[in-house]
Amino acid sequence: MATIPLTEKISWIGVNDFETELFEALWPIPQGISYNSYLIRDDKTALIDAVKRNFSDDFMMSLESTLAGKALDYLVINHIEPDHSGAIAPLAGRYPKMCIVGNEKTISLLKGFYNIANPVKIITENEKISLGRHTFEFFMTPMAHWPETMMTYERTTQTLFSGDVFGGFGTLPGGIFDDEVDIEALTPEIRRYFSNVIGKYCLPVQKAIEKIKPLPIKILASTHGPVYREAPQRIINLYSGWSRQETKPGAVIAYASMYGHTEKMAEAVGQGLTENGVKETQIFNVSKTHASFILSEIWVHKALVLGSCTYNGKIFPLMNGLLELLENTGLHGRSLGLFGSFSWSASPLSRLKDFSQKGPWKLISPCPEAKCAPADDVLKACYTLGQNLAKDMLSPNSKQ
Ligand code: FEO
Repeated sequence: MATIPLTEKISWIGVNDFETELFEALWPIPQGISYNSYLIRDDKTALIDAVKRNFSDDFMMSLESTLAGKALDYLVINHIEPDHSGAIAPLAGRYPKMCIVGNEKTISLLKGFYNIANPVKIITENEKISLGRHTFEFFMTPMAHWPETMMTYERTTQTLFSGDVFGGFGTLPGGIFDDEVDIEALTPEIRRYFSNVIGKYCLPVQKAIEKIKPLPIKILASTHGPVYREAPQRIINLYSGWSRQETKPGAVIAYASMYGHTEKMAEAVGQGLTENGVKETQIFNVSKTHASFILSEIWVHKALVLGSCTYNGKIFPLMNGLLELLENTGLHGRSLGLFGSFSWSASPLSRLKDFSQKGPWKLISPCPEAKCAPADDVLKACYTLGQNLAKDMLSPNSKQ
């Protein structure tokens, strides 16, 4: 897509990454991801963020053709994570006088990552840099997503360059603007990006949203996903709700099962939920669905149910992986159901209960346990667990 104008003088010159299997070497991206970089051409020229190193060749070609012979005066680094700074080496090689703009933490990380000799300008909160008609203002948003993260606002065009905040998974399908793509269809991937990558940093995201509240925003341009010009407030509202961990009625059951016994228990819990009014009940086998997708569903639903078999005397490894991810995100305020099965070794419920005590979960009883295949009384207990979760969720006194 090369170069797309946002305004007369501001252009998107990002790239679509259709190749990477796992973003951050962790999260599957079957629909890819975009790395958005923006070029402003005024008396002075400035690039805001760059792209991942693998895409430097195409990126440099787009940049040079859009600059049309002008030099590049500034590189503003809103976020130095290498998916946005990997192209710095070719940029520095081609534009040795380009001034790198960032805050103190940015410049410290810049020196750690890249051995380049370009001039740097360390900026602070509310400081301004004028390019001519366009002027940048800088807003520090630490830990949304890294400590150096900041946002850059251009007041004459009312454009906010927001870094990772308001970004999403998914390549840009031809168009880049929210009014020319099916934004509803892209939203699940945007939410998955939030829950996987940004969700750990809910409080910094809320602080960032508070900070930008007074700014009139016509164009909201993040580093991943669509550029919002029709309805910037839509994505701000979504990020606001996700970062406050707002939930809706519904349950996610995630289970690990080697021979189908724990799976039967999961189905009985699901039956208890749906027969008692929880229509939005989803069941995931952790061996089939990557934790990335499960986490995204857990993020927005009121109840979570976890069930596991054992493996080599411990909880099943993929369930343990999901527990560790959940422990790492700081997710809170969900009702929680637990169940498990074992045959000749210790019950997985000890690890599940240990998990339940590490966070502010509301544990709903019972916690059914099967030795070998679940007998009828165990399946009844699973149904009761689903029923109790439904009662708790649908009670008028439910606080979630
Ligand atoms: Fe897209 Fe935090 O980097």
